[in-house]
Amino acid sequence: MAENTMNEKERFLDDIEDRIRTIGVLTSGGDAPGMNAAIRAVVRTALARGLKVRGIRRGYHGLLREEIIDMSARDVSDTIQRGGTILQTARCKSMRTEEGQQKAAAICKKYGIDGLVVIGGDGSFAGAQKLANLGVNTVGIPGTIDLDIACTDYTIGFDTAVNTAMEAIDKVRDTSTSHERCSIIEVMGRDAGYLALWCGIANGAECILMPEEHDFDEAAIVADIMENKKRGKKNYIIINAEGIGDSINMAKRIEEATGIETRATILGHMQRGGSPTCKDRVYASIMGAMAVDLLCQGKTNRVVGYKNGEYVDFDIEEALAMKKAIPQYQYDIAKTLAL
Ligand code: ADP
Ligand code: F6P
Repeated sequence: MAENTMNEKERFLDDIEDRIRTIGVLTSGGDAPGMNAAIRAVVRTALARGLKVRGIRRGYHGLLREEIIDMSARDVSDTIQRGGTILQTARCKSMRTEEGQQKAAAICKKYGIDGLVVIGGDGSFAGAQKLANLGVNTVGIPGTIDLDIACTDYTIGFDTAVNTAMEAIDKVRDTSTSHERCSIIEVMGRDAGYLALWCGIANGAECILMPEEHDFDEAAIVADIMENKKRGKKNYIIINAEGIGDSINMAKRIEEATGIETRATILGHMQRGGSPTCKDRVYASIMGAMAVDLLCQGKTNRVVGYKNGEYVDFDIEEALAMKKAIPQYQYDIAKTLAL
C-alpha cells in the first residue's frame, strides 16, 4: 500500500517534470548588479538540464508586448562581470490588473514557457504569484539593492551597492574633513534603511537617519553637532536614507542652526550601477541555478532566499507576508562607535 502511494507520487512528479520544457527568465523593477550573473545561471542551468530558454526583455512590460527571444549559452557569455541587466527591466502598471495578468499568462502559454524565473523585488514576486495562480510555474529570485525582502537575509545587488556607496562616502568625508563641514549624504533604499545602516557603520557616520526610525529629533542632531565639534572632531557625517529624504533643505536648516557649513550629497543611481562584487556574482549564480532546479522538481509559486547561512525557498504568499525589522542592536552600536 505504502509502495503504491509512493509510486503514485513519483508518477505525479515525473509528470510535472515532463511538462517543464521551456524556461522563461525576466528581470523586473529596479536593476541591481548581479542580475546578469543570475540570468546566466538560469540560462546555462536550464540548457544543461536539456531545456529551452526564452529571455523576456523589459520585465512584465516586455512580456505583455511579446518581447521574447531564444537564449543560448553564448548569449550570456561575458556578462557575469557586467552591472545592470542584459534583458533590460521595467515597471509595468498593466501587470497589476487582472486583465494584464491573464494576458501575460496567455503569452507564456503561447510561447511554451512552462516555467518562469522572475528576478526582482517584492512587487515582481507579487506578479509572479498572480501568474502562478493562472497556471504558469514561477520562481522568484531576490534582486534589489534595497535588501528589503523579508524572506531572505541577502538580495542580489546589495553588496555591490553598499560598497559603491561606502567608497563614495569616503570621498565626501575627505573634503568634509578638509573644510571642517557637516555632510549629509543621501543613500537609496526606497522605504528601507539597510543601505543607510550599513554605510553608517562602514563609514563611521556620526548620525544615521532611516525611515524605520523616522521620529528623529533635528534639534538633538544640531546639539550633537555642536558637542561633536567640542570633542575635537573635524567633520560630522549624516547618512540620510532616501525614505527620509529632504537632504538639501535639512543641510540649510542645520547650517543655520549650527553656524557650521553643511553640504548635502545625493548619491542617486550611481549606487545601482557597476560591476558586481564577488558576493553578488556567487549568490546570484547559485540562486539562478536553484530556481531552475526547483522548477524541474515540479515546484511553483516559490521564491529563493538565503536565510541563516543556507539557501532556502518559500511559498511566495508566505514570503510576501513575512516582515523584517532593522536590527536595533546594530543601530545602537553605530551610535556608540560614532563617539
Ligand atoms: P520590485 O520588484 O523591485 O519590488 P516594483 O514594486 O516596482 O519593484 O514592482 C515591479 C513590477 O512588478 C511592477 O511594475 C509591476 O509590473 C509588478 N507588480 C508589482 N506589484 C504587483 C502586484 N500586486 N500584482 C501584480 N504585479 C505587480
Ligand atoms: O528599488 C531600487 C531603487 O533603486 C530604490 O532604492 C529607489 O527608491 C528606486 O529603486 C528608484 O527607482 P527609479 O530608478 O525608478 O528612480
